[in-house]
Amino acid sequence: MSGWTHRHVIDLAAFSSADFATVLELAQRFRVMPAAGTRRLPALQGRLMTSLFFEPSTRTRSSFELAARRLSADVQSFSPSSSSLSKGESLLDTARTYVAMGSDLLVVRHRCAGVPLSLARDLERSGESVAVLNAGDGLHSHPSQGLLDLFTLARHFAPDAPTPEALRGRRIVIVGDVLHSRVARSNLWALTACGATVVLCGPATLLPDDFRAFTAAPPPGQRQDPVHQRGSVELVRSLEEALPGADAVMTLRLQKERMQQQLITSAESYHRRYGISHRRLELCGRSVPVLHPGPVNRGVELAGALLDDPSICLVEEQVRNGIPIRMALLYLLSAGDRGAQGA
Ligand code: NCD
Repeated sequence: MSGWTHRHVIDLAAFSSADFATVLELAQRFRVMPAAGTRRLPALQGRLMTSLFFEPSTRTRSSFELAARRLSADVQSFSPSSSSLSKGESLLDTARTYVAMGSDLLVVRHRCAGVPLSLARDLERSGESVAVLNAGDGLHSHPSQGLLDLFTLARHFAPDAPTPEALRGRRIVIVGDVLHSRVARSNLWALTACGATVVLCGPATLLPDDFRAFTAAPPPGQRQDPVHQRGSVELVRSLEEALPGADAVMTLRLQKERMQQQLITSAESYHRRYGISHRRLELCGRSVPVLHPGPVNRGVELAGALLDDPSICLVEEQVRNGIPIRMALLYLLSAGDRGAQGA
């Protein structure tokens, strides 16, 4: 793929407009393939992907593993509880063990922000050519989720040409626990890069004021923003302010496991103020799609009846789109110096 320069995928803040276009174009090619009867491509034959998940996962891990298999790669999984980490082995030494077994791609999830990046740097320093894909690090970043959300929205707005252009000028509302959400952070970089306006909505305990300026400065660690003109970010406290004129609504899970203290009074009161239901959506003034990265607290972020309505709720479509997005990332990271073929 021309123009692709990334050796690892750690953070969407580092993606240029062309990078988003490349990933979406490739994902769309992979997305329509099963319909044409091609379930496995030979592109990554002989490659080994290892998933190193130090935090629980339902969707992301199995989606990456399925994506790798669809490209004919070998897949290996690591479980922290039964590994030598409990005997004191360092994370870097654990990763190097898998690299020594021939792993070309490490998919890493960790509860601490920055772990995938440190691992990528340490492995580079020791001369390894393995690629690291961040599958979620603390509150920081979840790039494959941000990309699959972008792809789902682009396919919704422009089914025949799901490019980043499909997002230009759209008003996308992100509701809920933004503070603890690496998904929201990745979506902020992705959606603004495509020219969408992101409206953040939630109580002050879950959405601090400084999120208003989230994309204002150059991304962390970069001297300048790889995107020339970003869409803007707005911050409001009520759905009555957020929803009128919205083109799509993205809801986020209340991440109780990351909350140090009570940040909401009760799940019921949260649902009353920020829960999304068919009735609430009438505030948008038209029919709009609803997304959620999962897992969903049914009846809290989303009313059960809405979650079960696929004409509006795209949760399952997000899961389906995760596979071609991850195929695209694995393909792009493998293609570089070793010349993969087949897509
Ligand atoms: C998200 C995550 O792990 O950050 N889930 C996911 O990957 N689909 C969001 C969440 O856990 O709420």
